[in-house]
Amino acid sequence: MITCSKVGFSYEPGHPVLQDLSFTIGEGECVGLIGANGAGKSTVMRLILGLLPCTQGEILVDAVPVGKDTLKEIRKKLGFVLQNSDNQMFMPTVYEDMIFAPLNYGVSKEETEKRVDAVLEKLGMQELKHRHNHKISGGEKRMAAIATILAMQPESILMDEPTAALDPYNRRIVMNAIRELPQTRLIASHDLDMILDTCSRVILLSGGKIAADGPAQEILRNKALLEAHRMELPFCLAGHSS
Ligand SMILES: Nc1ncnc2c1ncn2[C@@H]1O[C@H](COP(=O)(O)OP(=O)(O)OP(=O)(O)O)[C@@H](O)[C@H]1O
Ligand SMILES: [Mg+2]
Repeated sequence: MITCSKVGFSYEPGHPVLQDLSFTIGEGECVGLIGANGAGKSTVMRLILGLLPCTQGEILVDAVPVGKDTLKEIRKKLGFVLQNSDNQMFMPTVYEDMIFAPLNYGVSKEETEKRVDAVLEKLGMQELKHRHNHKISGGEKRMAAIATILAMQPESILMDEPTAALDPYNRRIVMNAIRELPQTRLIASHDLDMILDTCSRVILLSGGKIAADGPAQEILRNKALLEAHRMELPFCLAGHSS
C-alpha cells in the first residue's frame, strides 16, 4: 500500500512542481499515473522511492514513512523501473543484475536461479541472460530492467514509462506481465492504450496537481477531460468518437 498525504515538491524555491497531492494505492491495486510532459509523474515516483526528499506532506509505503532513516526498508519493498533505465543497471550482465536483489535479501541461490529462468522465459528474453548491460539495445535494456524487478518480487512496483522504446511484440509481453502481477503497481506512462489495458484506476496529473482520480474506463474515455489537460484519447478508443 502506498499513501501520499498533501505532498508538495519544488526543485527550485518558489517553483512548485507538485502541490497538495493526496492519494492511496491499495494493496494489489494497479494504478496508472498519466499527464502531459512535465506534469510531475516522474517526480512523484522519485519521491515515493526516496530518490528526492519529501519536504512537504508525507509518503507512506506499507505504513512506513519514506525518509532518510527508512530508505533501506522502503527500497526492499519497492521494485522500480526508472524512465531512463540506462542508469539503473549496475552489474555487468543482465543475469548478475537479476540475481543481485534476491540474493541480497536472503533468497537462496536455487530459488533465485529458478526465479531468473522463469522471468526470462515469461518475457521471452532467455538469449539476453548473459549479455553485457552496456552492449544491449535501448529496448533490451528496458526489458532487462523489468526482468530485474520481476525477479526481485517486491511488495510494490513502480514503473516509469515501462513500454517506451519497446517494439509492439515486447510491449504486448510487458503489458500481459504487468496485468497479471499480484503486487501493488503504479505505472506512469503516455501509452494510454497500455494503461487502459493494465490499470483499473487512473490518476491524472496536470501542472503538479491531481486533475482526476477514478476508474480507468471513465477517465480514459473522457475526451473533454483529457484534452483539457493536453492529452488525447487512447488510440483504441479514438475511432469511436469525434
Ligand atoms: N532536476 C530538475 N530540476 C529542476 N526542475 C526539474 C527537474 N526535473 C524535473 N523538473 C521539472 O519538474 C516538472 C515535473 O517534471 P517530471 O519529470 O516529474 O514530469 P513528467 O510528468 O515525468 O514528464 P514526462 O512525461 O516528460 O516524463 C517539469 O516542469 C520539469 O521541468
Ligand atoms: Mg517522466
